[in-house]
Amino acid sequence: MKFLFNLLAVILFLLDNGVSGVGSNEMSVSVMEGESVTLYTGVQTNQQEVIKWYFNDTRIAQISGDLSDICTDVQCEDGPERFRDRLKLDHQTGSLTITHITDSGLYELKIISSKSSSDKIFSVSVTGVSAAKQDEVKRKSVKEGESVTLDPVVIRKPSDVMMWYFNDILIAEITGDLSKICTDVQCKERFRDRLKLDHQTGSLNITNTRNTDSGEYKLQMIFNNSSFSITRVKRFNLTVINSGLSSGAVAGIVVAVVLLVSAVITAAVIYYRHKIYTPVQQNVSITNS
Ligand SMILES: *[C@@H]1O[C@H](CO)[C@@H](O)[C@H](O)[C@H]1NC(C)=O
Ligand SMILES: *[C@@H]1O[C@H](CO)[C@@H](O)[C@H](O)[C@H]1NC(C)=O
Repeated sequence: MKFLFNLLAVILFLLDNGVSGVGSNEMSVSVMEGESVTLYTGVQTNQQEVIKWYFNDTRIAQISGDLSDICTDVQCEDGPERFRDRLKLDHQTGSLTITHITDSGLYELKIISSKSSSDKIFSVSVTGVSAAKQDEVKRKSVKEGESVTLDPVVIRKPSDVMMWYFNDILIAEITGDLSKICTDVQCKERFRDRLKLDHQTGSLNITNTRNTDSGEYKLQMIFNNSSFSITRVKRFNLTVINSGLSSGAVAGIVVAVVLLVSAVITAAVIYYRHKIYTPVQQNVSITNS
């Protein structure tokens, strides 16, 4: 039973991360809408060849011998507007990165040199997710002093890279079997030995939480494959709830109680004075009549 469950988990994970070889020069890639994908050429450019990228037969990017001659859709006259500002080419390899991917279809790579030419096709299918799901931020709250785990709910492969950011500052990273926690002074001072990483899941554990741990934790996951990589982002909003009362709050409460007590005393004094004088006034009015 446990074995079957594990097998199922692995299959789902593979499907989720789009791993399958279709043919020797065709690769099947499945991603979720909004993720970033890098399609590898598998070569180092020696400036002798021309590397061309097509989407559904329309050229979208190109590097030719002269490295400065890199065009994106805007510059390539025949490129569609749909990829505006979302394509990046690696100068060393000619690998193509598509950020915030939305378009399913055939991404084709052509490498042409004077001696030979090769062709590779990435059949990319993009699974639509709702806009709400795409921007989803997991909210977590914890009482000050308790520990909390931010879990991306994935099974990590050794080739996957995971990077945790707190309010946009890198605080932890797992690459292969290595992990780094707080490499800079600011992070060390803030979290001082209170962060732990789980290599199997990539989850981040924060012990003995403090008020200052509240904020946005962003996890960037890079799923690496020999032919492509997929980058996914998850966000967590953590609120550390003040369990005890701070000295400021205590002082505030003392002041409030003192004010309340003096108000009650004042009211009581006024009331009794009023009570004492009223019968006298009544007596006066009675004797007058
Ligand atoms: C690209 O081609 C695929 C079929 O190969 C098709 O399903 C898809 O809609 C096309 N995409 C665009 C944006 O034309
Ligand atoms: C998450 O936290 C950030 C900064 O702390 C805040 O700006 C943002 O509105 C929060 N988002 C949600 C969905 O709570």
